[in-house]
Amino acid sequence: MSVLIKGGRVVTATDDVVADVLVEGERIALIGASLDVEAERVIDARGKLVLPGAVDPHTHLDMPFGGTVTIDDVESGQRAAARGGTTCHVDFCIQAPGTSFGDSLAEWKRKADGKQVIDMGYHIAITDLHEGGSLEELASLPEQGVTSYKLFMAYKGALMVDDETLFRSMQVAADSGALVMVHAENGDAIDVLVKEALAAGNTAPHFHALTRPPETEGEATNRAIQLARVAGAPLYVVHVSCKEAVDPIMRARELGWDVWGETCTQYFFVDYTFLERPDFEGAKYVYTPPPRDKANQDVLWNAVRTDVLSAISTDHCAFTWSEQKAMGRDDFSKIPNGGPGLENRLHMIHHFGVREGRITLNRMVELLCTNPAKLFGLYPRKGTIAVGCDADLVIFDPEKRHLITAEDQESRSDYNLFEGTEVVGDVDTVLLRGAVIVDGGEVVGEAGYGRFVARAKFGEQLAPAAAAA
Ligand code: URP
Ligand code: ZN
Ligand code: ZN
Repeated sequence: MSVLIKGGRVVTATDDVVADVLVEGERIALIGASLDVEAERVIDARGKLVLPGAVDPHTHLDMPFGGTVTIDDVESGQRAAARGGTTCHVDFCIQAPGTSFGDSLAEWKRKADGKQVIDMGYHIAITDLHEGGSLEELASLPEQGVTSYKLFMAYKGALMVDDETLFRSMQVAADSGALVMVHAENGDAIDVLVKEALAAGNTAPHFHALTRPPETEGEATNRAIQLARVAGAPLYVVHVSCKEAVDPIMRARELGWDVWGETCTQYFFVDYTFLERPDFEGAKYVYTPPPRDKANQDVLWNAVRTDVLSAISTDHCAFTWSEQKAMGRDDFSKIPNGGPGLENRLHMIHHFGVREGRITLNRMVELLCTNPAKLFGLYPRKGTIAVGCDADLVIFDPEKRHLITAEDQESRSDYNLFEGTEVVGDVDTVLLRGAVIVDGGEVVGEAGYGRFVARAKFGEQLAPAAAAA
């Protein structure tokens, strides 16, 4: 199949030109002004943006968590992603206690089998180095294309690891070519605060935030940075929500240390007061780290603009409000933590970031596509527009209005964090490896076309598939 995308404004992290893009098979074959070539399908992209397919480095699909399982499985989550212009994501494979990393990955791949609408990779989330996974097995994972290790410094009694496990994993990563990712919160201190709150009868959703103060995120962020420095491992701090965590990342980066951080779409828009909404509506915004005081939103915009933070992910971890979140109606600590987001990252960042002048269009592409691809071993096959790369492309109409609402979403969640927001700019067409998977805003991609992508080791490039063969 060949596709010619004519006359669009082709935007990468560095370029911004009006050009035609010829796709042949799964890859980009030619880019140039007024290409004189034939193609089986011609798409008129005049007046539209042609962007690289967005890459989301932080998602949770079909994941057991908080006494339930996320409502989006691989198919519904990836349909939501495609609808929002994301063509590749890296999901967390959680090592079940007592299980080897290999068995955990096999189980996660089984859950994805036949359901993949877009391409994906896995981070391995290490929970147990005693009964299940070994350091030797951990060291072997990057050779299999699993090139990032995730450790939770919170969720005591569930996913949380101790500092010894964190540090030993970092030592392995220093040699194996993996990037270490941390959920940075002080889980021990939070556990004490949660128990105290419940003992005092404080059960409402907003106590989720009051028992996880920003200092607990700042402390853990700094601890992880210092330990990674000692171990000699590169570090990526996920879902940074506040100044207390931005500051140590900024310092480390000023010193030239191998430290990166991401924030997530919701932290720019949802603040602490959302948790106080009456009639249990606050539970919709129970995710971790929690929504913070509004002043942090400017801190985060500034951090993504100045490259203190290098990526914006979604941390898509969707539950229903009416049933799953309701498990914590009488006890905020039983509300499953997480929210939906895969569908609207590009909408929200384009409208409030680019249109409202907080970041440039090139920087948006860098934050949503190129940097995640580079950091997680997908670049240049993914994350940019260049000859030979995968033809993962988004044709985006920057003037089309779109009302964000749960009624009209692919995610199976029954609410949307940005409900009722009208944005200007919407996804028109999406190509994944040359195949049209969104057409006129409708998802037309078939489950089973998406693939597992074996990622390159940290700091290495993933050669375009033709060259790699
Ligand atoms: O609340 C959240 N973020 N749920 C997903 C798990 C995590 O901590 O990333
Ligand atoms: Zn987390
Ligand atoms: Zn997460």
